[in-house]
Amino acid sequence: MAQNTPPTKTILRALAGETLPTPPIWMMRQAGRYLPEYKATRAEAGDFLSLCYNPDLATEVTLQPIRRYGFDAAILFADILLVPQALGADLWFVTGEGPRLSTVTTQSDFDKLKPVGDIHETLNPIYQTVRNLAGALPSETTLIGFAGAPWTVATYMIAGQGTKDQGPAHQLRINDNPLFEKLLDLITKATIEYMSAQIEAGAEVMKIFDSWAGSLSGEAFQKYALEPTREITQELKKRHPGIPIIGFPREAGDKYIGFAKATGVDCVALDNSVSADWAAANVQVDGCVQGNLASSHMVTGGQPLVDETRAIVKALSKGPHIFNLGHGITPDANPDNVQLMIDSVREHA
Ligand code: CP3
Repeated sequence: MAQNTPPTKTILRALAGETLPTPPIWMMRQAGRYLPEYKATRAEAGDFLSLCYNPDLATEVTLQPIRRYGFDAAILFADILLVPQALGADLWFVTGEGPRLSTVTTQSDFDKLKPVGDIHETLNPIYQTVRNLAGALPSETTLIGFAGAPWTVATYMIAGQGTKDQGPAHQLRINDNPLFEKLLDLITKATIEYMSAQIEAGAEVMKIFDSWAGSLSGEAFQKYALEPTREITQELKKRHPGIPIIGFPREAGDKYIGFAKATGVDCVALDNSVSADWAAANVQVDGCVQGNLASSHMVTGGQPLVDETRAIVKALSKGPHIFNLGHGITPDANPDNVQLMIDSVREHA
């Protein structure tokens, strides 16, 4: 697409700041275990990581929710923890528990990591998935690529697993701040190269997932959530002028205010701990917002789902909005509730 032609795809129009009569929709973790067809393809792949690194099967699972529901965007099927793996960390998934990684808590752990330039060796299959998708998606569907934000990725690299309070990462941040900052910088540089390669392969939007941004406050939020997202955004836009970027500083609360201006992202994704009315008044004033239906509605369904969906659409109807959940859909969700959500968003379209 030439730089000066206005976009035609609905997601790109919303990201460019247009207020649309019906918000475009996609859903975090839209390719996932709530779908029987996902479970079948995952079984064929053997395990989750084999699925991520198999371009044919990763393309297939990315397309499944598009075929079933006609979402306005597809999100590349991969994981934020592939970057640590590409940097040399061991990574595996324990069924029913989640990810495990070799830890980085000392200078000698850090010294064993690979240089940024080496990450593509591991990540090449992901770029192939992006190329496949760029050729396979319907012409109206936007392709979103992504990576984890450096702080969130660091919390897993330091603890070696998911943590409730990100305690080990906070400990390193405080007890060995130079090492913590070196690690964050390495992840930031690797993330820029990873996202840049996704864009070159055909991804049209980038999303930066800072799932644990909410555990940083004050100056630490500025330095370790806001600043890395700003650095990545600025560099990507320098290399790929016009590339739209969605930031997701999950659970940032009041710190959602001004986040787009401070980082340069085109859209702020909202979790469901903030109300849509509050977001309209405080965040959407600066541009596009994405969100923010509680994913629990995908389990419980019924009239509360319809009412809450309508309320979010209405509250955010006076500015650019992309409808989404506040966090990923869970494996116990009912696929029929996803259709009910979509119908409720599009009922007047
Ligand atoms: O949204 C999508 O559909 C695109 C693919 C995607 C996955 N993970 C696939 C996945 C994306 C964008 C992610 C991001 C991700 N991964 C985040 C940030 C967003 C968030 O949820 O806060 C984080 C923190 C991770 C790390 C991760 N990956 C964890 C903690 C887990 C285990 C928890 C779980 O849900 O099982 C994963 C596994 C994972 N990533 C699955 C999927 C579909 C489930 C794996 C399976 O099939 O068993």
